[in-house]
Amino acid sequence: MNKDPFILGSGPPTRTAEMISRAFSTGWNSAVTKTICLNHKEMVDVSPRIYRLKNGLKNIELISALPAEQWAREINALKEKYPDKTIIASISAEANNTKAWQELAVMMQEAGSNALELNFSCPHGLPEKSMGNTCSDIPEAAASITRAVKEVSKIPVWVKLSPNITSIIHLAGLCVKNGADCITATNTVKGFAGLDISTGKPELPVYGGLSGNMIKPVALKAVSEIVSKVKCPVSASGGVSNWQDAVEFLLLGASSVQVCTEVMFNGYKVIDKLKSGLADYLGEKSIDGVRGASLKYITSFSELDKTVKLKAKIDRKSCINCKKCYISCRDAGYQAIEEDIRINSEKCTGCGLCGCVCPVRCIEMTELFTFRGT
Ligand SMILES: Cc1cc2nc3c(=O)[nH]c(=O)nc-3n(C[C@H](O)[C@H](O)[C@H](O)COP(=O)(O)O)c2cc1C
Repeated sequence: MNKDPFILGSGPPTRTAEMISRAFSTGWNSAVTKTICLNHKEMVDVSPRIYRLKNGLKNIELISALPAEQWAREINALKEKYPDKTIIASISAEANNTKAWQELAVMMQEAGSNALELNFSCPHGLPEKSMGNTCSDIPEAAASITRAVKEVSKIPVWVKLSPNITSIIHLAGLCVKNGADCITATNTVKGFAGLDISTGKPELPVYGGLSGNMIKPVALKAVSEIVSKVKCPVSASGGVSNWQDAVEFLLLGASSVQVCTEVMFNGYKVIDKLKSGLADYLGEKSIDGVRGASLKYITSFSELDKTVKLKAKIDRKSCINCKKCYISCRDAGYQAIEEDIRINSEKCTGCGLCGCVCPVRCIEMTELFTFRGT
C-alpha cells in the first residue's frame, strides 16, 4: 500500500540532478526538476533573489540556467541509478511557441522522465519573456500548449497553474479538456515584499512569488475547487510545512503533495517526519481511503444555517485578563464584552473576533450561553 504522496517540488532543492540524487538517497521517492527551457542562456539570476517574510518567502528566482541537453543526459543517468523513483520534468517555453514545448517534452520523455509538468505559472521574470504566468493569463495558450504536448507525449502530462488568475477552475477545466492528466495547484502567489520606510525604497523593486506556509489557504482553496469541480487528479503545492498540512491537502482531494519552501528552510531530511507523521495518522487506512473525505464539508454561503446563533463564552479559569477581547469588541465589534470581561448576551452576535484575539484561546462560540459569565 503506497503511503508516500510526497513530491519534492520544482525549485532550489531540485536545481541539479546531483541534488535530486541526494534527495532520493535521503528518502524522497519523487521529484519535479527545476523548470527546464531552451533559452537557458537568458536565465540570468539577480542576487539576492530570495527574501524572508513572516511565515514564508518571497522570491524572484528564474527557472533553470542549465541547458536542456544537460538535463536530458542527467535525468537519464538519474533514472539508471534510481529506476524506481519518479522524476517529473518541469518544462517551459514561450506561450505562442508550441514547437518549443513539444521539443522539450520529447527530449525529457526520451531521457526517461516519468511525467512532464508544464510550468504555466512562474510569476516573475518569465512573463516578461511571454513565458510562465503568461500561459495561465491566456487560457487559449494554456489549451493549445497542453494539446500540442499531449500530441507528442507518451508519459503523463501535468500542468502547473498559477493562483494569480480570476478562475483557476476554468483554466484547469480547459487544460483537462485538452488532455492534461493532472493539475498541479499552485505555483507561488504574486506579491510585493514591502518598503524600507527610512529610505522609501523597496527591498526588491520587482513583484515576486510568495511561498511557504502563508500561502497554504490559497492552495487549499485551489486544490479543493479543482478536485470538486473539474474532477481530475490534483498535485498540491503551496505551504506544506509538516505532515498535518499534507493531511489537509489529502482530505481535500489532493493526489500528491509537493514541498519546496519547507525543504529550503530545513533540508531534505524533512521527508522523514513527513512520511512517519502521515503513516501514523493513516494507521491501517490507505491514502485512497482518506482522499477527499473533507470535501463534503465545503458548502456555499447561501447554504449555511443562519438560524444558529452562537454567543461567546469565556473560560474564566484560563482568562489572563489581558482585555484584548474587550478592546476588540468595543472598537471593532458590538460592545458586548464589559471591561471586567463579562459578556452581554443581548449584544453578542457570535462574530468570533474575541476568540481570534485571545492569546490564551479561552473564548469559544457556543449555544450554551450563561449570562454575565460563570
Ligand atoms: C526560490 C524558488 C524557486 C522556484 N522555482 C520554481 C521553478 O523553477 N519552477 C516551478 O514550477 N516552480 C518553482 N517554484 C515554486 C515551487 O515549486 C512551489 O510551487 C511554490 O514555492 C509553493 O510551494 P511551497 O510553499 O511548498 O514552496 C519556486 C519556488 C521558490 C521559493
